[in-house]
This record gives sequence, C-alpha cells and structure tokens, in this order.
Amino acid sequence: QDDQFKKVISHAKEYGYVFQSSEIYDGLSAVYDYAQNGAELKKNIRDYWWKAMVQMNENIVGIDAAIFMHPTTWKASGHVDAFNDPLIDNKDSKKRYRADVLIEDYCAKIEAKIDKEVAKAAKRFGDAFNKEEFVSTNGRVLGYQEKINTTLSRMAKSLENEDLADVKALIEELGIADPLTGSKNWTDVKQFNLMFGTKLGASAESAMDLYLRPETAQGIFVNFLNVQKTGRMKIPFGIAQTGKAFRNEIVARQFIFRMREFEQMEMQFFIKPGTQQKWYEYWKEARMKWHLSLGMGADNYRFHDHEKLAHYADAASDIEFKFPFGFKELEGIHSRTDFDLKAHEEHSGKKLQYFDHADNSSYTPYVLETSIGLDRMFLAVFSNSLQEEALENGTTRTVLKLPSVLAPVKAAVLPLVKKDGLPEIARKIIEDLKWDFNVIYDEKDAVGRRYRRQDANGTPFCITVDHESLDDKMVTIRHRDTMAQERVNIEDLREIIKQEVDV
Ligand code: GAP
Repeated sequence: QDDQFKKVISHAKEYGYVFQSSEIYDGLSAVYDYAQNGAELKKNIRDYWWKAMVQMNENIVGIDAAIFMHPTTWKASGHVDAFNDPLIDNKDSKKRYRADVLIEDYCAKIEAKIDKEVAKAAKRFGDAFNKEEFVSTNGRVLGYQEKINTTLSRMAKSLENEDLADVKALIEELGIADPLTGSKNWTDVKQFNLMFGTKLGASAESAMDLYLRPETAQGIFVNFLNVQKTGRMKIPFGIAQTGKAFRNEIVARQFIFRMREFEQMEMQFFIKPGTQQKWYEYWKEARMKWHLSLGMGADNYRFHDHEKLAHYADAASDIEFKFPFGFKELEGIHSRTDFDLKAHEEHSGKKLQYFDHADNSSYTPYVLETSIGLDRMFLAVFSNSLQEEALENGTTRTVLKLPSVLAPVKAAVLPLVKKDGLPEIARKIIEDLKWDFNVIYDEKDAVGRRYRRQDANGTPFCITVDHESLDDKMVTIRHRDTMAQERVNIEDLREIIKQEVDV
C-alpha cells in the first residue's frame, strides 16, 4: 500500500503533474503546485463536473464568488465558534496531532486485521468462501468490529459533547502511542480553529480582520437571493461554484488528499422545506452516477452515512473512494436544512426568503449540498489510473490509464523518423487537430520508447506517421490501454479521437 502510494507521488512529479510548493526552499507543508499536465487534468475534472452540474441541468446555474467575505459571514456560518479540530500534543516528541485522527488510525489498524483474517480464510476455503457470511459469524472478526464500533461511537459522542477530557482518556485507554516516537505521554486535548486569518486595509487601526474562506458554500448562501431574482429561478434550483478554500490543517500528510490550500466544487440546491429526504436520496444517487460514469470501477466507491452530524446538517453521507491508503471521503452530500440562510438572515438583518407562486407562500428554503474536493478527485483519478502491466515479452510497462475525457493530452503525433517529410505531415496533423484537442508532437527516441513515454503520461492515442503515409495519407493510431494499432485515414483522426474523448 505504502509502496503504491509512493509510486503515485513520484510519478506525479516525474511526469509533470504535481510538484511540492516552493520546492527550491524545501517546500511548504501540505501545499502543492499543479504542473503542466496536472493543471490540464485538474481543469478537465473541473469541466467534467461543471458540465454535469451546470450545463446539463436547466435549474442549476454557476457563480464565482470572492475568497474574501465579510467577517460576519463566518460568525453566521458557525465557523468562528465551531470549525475546530481537537488537538493533542505529545509531551516527549513535542509533536502535535489531531486527537480524532489518532483514534481513527487506531481503528484503521484493527480494520486491517479484519482484512487479514478475511484473506486467510479465503485462502483456506477457496471457492467455497463466502465473505459476508464469514465476517458476520467469525468470532475474532466480530470482536474487532465491536471494538471499532464502540471506539468510534464513544469518540463521536465525546466530541459532540465537547468532552475533551474523555477524548484524552480514550487515547490513553487504547494505549495509543506517538506514531513517530512511540511515546504515550500526552497533553490535554484542546480545540483549535482551522480558519486562516488575514487583514484588510493598510493601517493597523482601520484594518479589518478577515478570514480566507474555509469553504466555497458561504459565497453561494449570501448570493442566494441575488441569483434567484436576477436568474428568475424557481425552487427547486441549484447554484454551483468551484474555487479555492483554505484550512489550517494539522494533519498535513497524504499528499494532495489533505491540503491547506485546496479547491472545492460545491453545489447548493435550494428546496422546499419537507422535501429534503427526497432530494438527499436524489443527489446521493446522481453524484454516485457521476463518479461511476468515469469507469474507474464500482468496487472503488462506497457510501458512508454519518451518525455524527455537523452543526448544520440533518442528514449527511460521504462518497468514499478506495485511495492507495484505504477508503476515505471523496465527496460529501449534506442536507443542511435552513441553517445557513436563517443564520445569515439573523446576522445581516436581511430577509432571505423565497416567494412560492404555486401556493402563495414565503419561506426560507432548505438546502441540499454536494461538496467535492477537486484535488481529492484528482488524487482518486490519478492513483487509480497508475498501473504496472506485465507484458507477454516478460517486461512491464507503466501506464496511466486516465479516463480519456480527463487526460491532459489526447494524442501525441509521432513521425517515425526526423526526415523525409514525415515531420511535416505530423505538424500538419497537429495544426489540424489542435483546435479541438490538446495534442503534442514528439520526435525524440525510438518510436517504442515514445509509446512508453505517452503511456506513462496518460495519453490515450499515439498517431505515427511513416513513409507509407506520404502515399496513402494514412497513419497508425495506437490505443494506450490495449496497445492495439490500426491504420486509419488522416482525415478520420478527428472523429476517432472525438468518439473516445467526448462525453
Ligand atoms: N461545504 C461543506 C464542506 O466544505 P467538507 O466535508 O468540510 O464540507 C467537502 O469538505 C470536501 O472538500 C471534502 O469531501 C473533501 O473532498 C474536500 N476537502 C475538505 N478539506 C480538504 C483539504 N484540507 N484538502 C483537500 N480537500 C479537502
């Protein structure tokens, strides 16, 4: 697992996808830059989301709100008072940890033990093995499961009740040690706000304390009425946006999974009170369909319905994805009730109500939210696509099987040799295709090596121009995933690529 994840990180760097921020100064923890290919992949994921949300839904519109917002926004949203992580320091190592993450990691280790038992039993019973039956009847597995359940529910309860002493007690009872040093000498647990503060204005006296937004959602809530009126939107309707968000995360690890500066893609769907259950189910299904449409394997996704709810929600579920380090949250679907709009009404003194012509009544709409981290989606796509394949001739090839619609470069055009007029034909093909697709030219090294380079880069097609192309106006097109090659007319290239990369 660890090895696979290390490969993902080094491949992302080697092929120009993700670099550590300010690397020449030894980097900045949990901050990353997207390189030439990464920026394209990220843009394609964003576009794929935007298309599914805004373009395909008549009743969803997109906005682009500012990162800076009036500071009262964060009072109203609850972030000033409640957007905290419970932190604990180790007295010996002086390292700081999120108490809840320490406990979750402890449970993940027990979960790994369950996986081991299952693997062992599968081997023992062979074809007759029934996983479901095994995990629901095996004493040892049931014991592990029980331990996980009681631990997580006690943690959830203590956090909900702000009983930080009990969180510490739990860590001590479980015998959790500092992952780096093994020390069990812990301080008390304290709450720590995750928002980044900054100042607006020049002079110290007049400067106003601001926060960098920790989520994009509030930019939508405060614009709810403006959009509804100017867009003449009728409930149910949605407002979507993508943009940067900032959180002073303490557990800064797992590459771009948890960053301090990241991008969200959020959609707030405004609905009539009382219809939230229906829309919650609807958006859970719709969002799962969106993920599955990328063809990355249904087994890699699962829902995790929340028992512990955030301060704003009456129901919440995560879509979890199987990252190289296990199943983790990729997207959240939250039924937020009228918490946000009511809070903004209260703090701003402005009404944020909707007049329903259908039954002549005014009400504060309820909100159903879908919220996904763009960087996290990037990691899901990238890590799932990176594969090592054993070939028939005994060698292996590294191939980045990105969904074609998301691939940064759709085709590489390769003249077989650097002379005899082949480069000119290749250039002409590029001139022609570049209006529709991101295509590149590559003439360096033997063609086999160029194929491998494009495989590792995730390019779905290689188009090779050879001497026969001069006469027959045909080229060889090679498919990344199957390595199958076919001879096609140059004039058909656009259609062939389009078939594969268009949605
Ligand atoms: N408006 C609701 C909201 O912000 P959230 O669960 O805190 O909910 C939504 O965040 C999504 O944003 C998460 O599912 C995750 O994909 C992404 N996300 C949150 N914190 C992140 C971080 N530090 N780095 C990268 N992505 C993050």
